[in-house]
Amino acid sequence: MSGLIALLFTKLSLPPASAIRGETILITGANTGLGREAARHAARLGVGTIIMGVRSLPKGEEAKADIESSTGCSGKTQILVWPLDLESFASVRAFAARARKHVVDDGGRLTMAIMNAGIASMQFALSDEGWEKSLQVNVLSTALLSLHLMPLLLRTGERHPSSRPHLALVSSDNHMSIKFPERHADRILQTMNGEEQWKKSQAAGGPTERYGATKLMDLFLAQEMANRTPRDSRGEPLVVVNAVAPGFCKSDLLTREKTPWILKVVQAAIARSSEEGSKTLLHAVTQGTEAHGKYLDHQAITATGKIASDTEALALREKIWGEIIAVLKGVDPTVPTEF
Ligand SMILES: NC(=O)c1ccc[n+]([C@@H]2O[C@H](COP(=O)([O-])OP(=O)(O)OC[C@H]3O[C@@H](n4cnc5c(N)ncnc54)[C@H](OP(=O)(O)O)[C@@H]3O)[C@@H](O)[C@H]2O)c1
Repeated sequence: MSGLIALLFTKLSLPPASAIRGETILITGANTGLGREAARHAARLGVGTIIMGVRSLPKGEEAKADIESSTGCSGKTQILVWPLDLESFASVRAFAARARKHVVDDGGRLTMAIMNAGIASMQFALSDEGWEKSLQVNVLSTALLSLHLMPLLLRTGERHPSSRPHLALVSSDNHMSIKFPERHADRILQTMNGEEQWKKSQAAGGPTERYGATKLMDLFLAQEMANRTPRDSRGEPLVVVNAVAPGFCKSDLLTREKTPWILKVVQAAIARSSEEGSKTLLHAVTQGTEAHGKYLDHQAITATGKIASDTEALALREKIWGEIIAVLKGVDPTVPTEF
């Protein structure tokens, strides 16, 4: 089925309540868009605890109140609102430390983690850490947090053998249409970090070129983490790690940017609502081990784009993984890379 037909005609569904009842789900970027609607679905389905990672606490509290009033979940679902700014490695480390305390010291669970927060930069800008913002937010900080959460997901699985934890990184089908000229560079991340290169790659690949490249990297991260996930005596992964594409959705993603009008028109005409698209996020964290290391689109295991599957893809993936880990080790020597 072509992407457009699948977007228009796939009937998305929610997992059964039994798949998440009483569990703990962590969602980054949960104050708005897909993250907020995924949290609302989870509350309706009776999840035990929702950890909302938000960069603005007032916005997070507003979302929490809205979810509680629309679902009547108070008293059944505990909603925790924790600060998380992916433009800051220190903020990511503080958030990870809080999650560690929740699981290790306080005996809490972490059964499902959705790395949803992301941006679609259309203009070049650097974070305070010196990285182009979408590389910082969508890739480096997302990787740092995912790696820190992995031992906590494993620990939850050990303590509660009946629930197999899940980690989903939110990718995009946009990775399929990128040119990604920087992939031939000796140092891919450093090359992508220059403004001149940004202009060249946008000229070659269009306004969503960089966004798609960061979402390819999220897919690669999920695949590399899946390869490193320990397995049980039957050979099944102890945590199911995958990458999920929610499809084109109406959200704040494009309204934050100076987005070409044509994209906004197409979005208004054909995109899913966030309420609908967010069902894909819950689907990703409730699948069986057959979904481990896979790319999920329209709630099905789907072939990745050519750039992630051709003869050069594995070498590219390993190179990008190595570069990401080198950056992260530099900012956080404690980051776990083997589990
Ligand atoms: N919408 C689509 O068509 C589509 C398609 C494919 C993939 N996706 C992916 O789906 C995910 C959710 O996107 P969305 O459409 O729901 O967009 P959205 O409405 O713009 O929501 C993005 C979320 O990420 C948060 N965020 C942005 N920068 C952050 C930072 N530095 N630190 C912490 N949180 C930050 C935002 O927080 P603030 O509100 O505080 O800025 C917001 O909660 C993204 O990863 C996106 O790439 C979306």
